Amino acid sequence: MSTPQSTRYRLLVADFFDAMSSLYDSWAHGANAKEAARLAEEARVGTGERVLDIGCGTGTATRMMAEATGVPGAVVGIDVVPAMLACAREADSSGTVYARMAAESLAFADSSIDVITYGQTLPYLFEPKESLHEAYRVLANGGRCIVSCRQRSLSTPAQELFFALLREEEQRHPAIPPRLSADRAALGEPRVLTTILREAGFRQISTSHLVTGITATGAEEWCSIMEWLGPYPHLMLSGMGKVRRQELYGRLDRRMEELGDGAYTFHLGFTFATAHKTG
Ligand SMILES: C[S@@+](CC[C@H](N)C(=O)[O-])C[C@H]1O[C@@H](n2cnc3c(N)ncnc32)[C@H](O)[C@@H]1O
Repeated sequence: MSTPQSTRYRLLVADFFDAMSSLYDSWAHGANAKEAARLAEEARVGTGERVLDIGCGTGTATRMMAEATGVPGAVVGIDVVPAMLACAREADSSGTVYARMAAESLAFADSSIDVITYGQTLPYLFEPKESLHEAYRVLANGGRCIVSCRQRSLSTPAQELFFALLREEEQRHPAIPPRLSADRAALGEPRVLTTILREAGFRQISTSHLVTGITATGAEEWCSIMEWLGPYPHLMLSGMGKVRRQELYGRLDRRMEELGDGAYTFHLGFTFATAHKTG
């Protein structure tokens, strides 16, 4: 069911990924591409398996899994943002099908897929649980679902400090960003991810981790990276003109000084979960 809040959230997410599509793979020294490659590895796709990549984005994991199946057309990548699908199609010569489709309503028959992947998609869905129930429905018995999500608890003090500053900025910002409940930010915590997979019916759930990181040279580089971390910092930072941005750099520099060696360092931690439909 669509509500004003869900529509607002979906549009914010879609606009963000539309704007980011061309730099998605190279952002933050290729952190997204590394995560997608690891997702494909974790999926351990075998020859001829039928695969659905939900929120396929630019298709890095999709292409790797298509290679592993060895059967043209055995992999389908779906996404709601045409610009992301266009990047995926352009980079692909494997015969993979890319379709515009929402994760919450899958146009696939019951038990028709062997492997489902969600590479950093779940936290961007307004109804992640609804989508997992759909995934469970379309998976065949014995099939598996592999999910990756950012693990926010691995954030550095510099990240915490920056987001606290952005929240202060909201008072002076012309657009009030929509904010979802705090449990959304916790989706990448292994315990939380395991629980929602279990609630959707999955069993034999295991998790693993990947951590990458960067130290920026100063406030300007930091903000240019953080602007593409997600819809919230993007809305906040892209809505600032030069004057406000310079002011923010000054405030950020002063606060970061207190962190000493930890200044301008950020971590991108990912949790990967593999869950099975055991029948
Ligand atoms: C962080 S990107 C992940 C891309 C890729 N899976 C990866 O691992 O690099 C999240 C993707 O989810 C897509 N997305 C957001 N909401 C969606 C929805 N309701 N249904 C399907 N895809 C969605 C976005 O357009 C975006 O391409």
